[in-house]
This record gives sequence, C-alpha cells and structure tokens, in this order.
Amino acid sequence: MKRLAVFVSGGGSNFRSIHDKMLSGEIPGEVVLLVTNNTECAAADYAREHRIEVVKYPDAEMTPAMLAEKLQAANCDYIILAGYIKLVPAEVVRAFSGKTLNIHPGPLPDFGGKGYYGIRVHEAVLASGRKYSAATVHIVDEVYDRGPILAAVKVPVFEGDTPQNLASRVLKQEHRLYPAVVGALCRDEIAWEFDGSPKIEPSLKLD
Ligand code: GRF
Repeated sequence: MKRLAVFVSGGGSNFRSIHDKMLSGEIPGEVVLLVTNNTECAAADYAREHRIEVVKYPDAEMTPAMLAEKLQAANCDYIILAGYIKLVPAEVVRAFSGKTLNIHPGPLPDFGGKGYYGIRVHEAVLASGRKYSAATVHIVDEVYDRGPILAAVKVPVFEGDTPQNLASRVLKQEHRLYPAVVGALCRDEIAWEFDGSPKIEPSLKLD
C-alpha cells in the first residue's frame, strides 16, 4: 500500500474521486495526511470524517521545513495536489522531487502558469478558439504547471460553450484521469526513465 499526502483548498472532488477508489480497493494506497490552507473547507471535513489527519499549511506554527519533515515522518510515498491554491514550498518539492503530482483543468503548457487557475483557464481556452481543452496530470517542479506531463485527456469544446459548461465537462474527465494515474502510480505501473521522465504503461490510456 502506498502512502499519500493530498493537498487541497476547496471542495476536494478530485480527492474524493481518488479516495473512493481506495475505499473500494481499486487503488492500493491510503491517504495518510490531508494538507490544506483552509481547515474549514469541505475536503477537510471529509478527511476528518474518514479519520485522516488534517494539517494546516501555510500556518504561523509550521515552517516549510517542518512541513517537509512531517510528510517524511508520515512515510509518504507521493504527494497529490488536488486544487491546492497555495504554492508548495521548495523544501517540500525538493524532498519529494518527482513524487509530487498535480492536476490542471486545461492543456499544458499553453494554458498553465501564473494566472491560469479556475475559471480563467476555461475562459482562456474558449477565447483561443481551440477545439479541445484537456484535463492534465503532471509532475510538480519548482515552476508552476511546468513539470513533465504524465497523462492528459482531451475534452471537446462545443459551439456556444460557456466557461462554466466547459469547466464541468473537464472536471468530469479529471475524476476519471486522476484516479487512473494515482492507481497506476500505486501499482508501480509507471516506469521512471533515467532522466527522471516517466513512461506510462499503455494500460493507462483511457479512451
Ligand atoms: C480542479 O479543477 C483541478 O484541476 C484544479 O483545481 C480544481 C479542484 O477541484 N487544480 P476539486 O476541489 O477537486 O473539486
């Protein structure tokens, strides 16, 4: 069983989509820590209901080094970012180099980086006139949304789409993609190349 820390800030629907598959035994892993900047968010309530320890970060009591130590002391194998709106401190990114994943609600690298979050991603995709958006899972490094892409699912853009329509269509795909990638990770189905870039087994293809 792999041990995961999940970082969230809001509703945590991606977190729950992964946790559901752990509860049903489809993902051989467990969430051992939930890190959040907002301990009142729905995802934190859900974690407490499931007896998952909730850690507040950023917090006056917790330095970046203390957070990295906490994650290591909990023997976390991977960090899963699922709608965490704060910057993950460099100490943590370094301590879990190549072992921190994020999901982004749009195609990367074109619609990622500073300012591309939430509804803004979907507005930008619609404004660009592209025919497809995407849900994208990538490895986190020290630059926002720039780490190597592990997997992405294309999401069609329809005539007359609003950012909200597109957002909900992308989110549906996120709920398929993220558990699939985390499952592959927990089953050691992702082979890591020498240069640190991952190689996905064909079984992970969703469509
Ligand atoms: C998702 O759209 C994800 O792509 C982005 O933040 C959102 C989190 O949504 N990183 P939820 O809290 O999982 O519902």
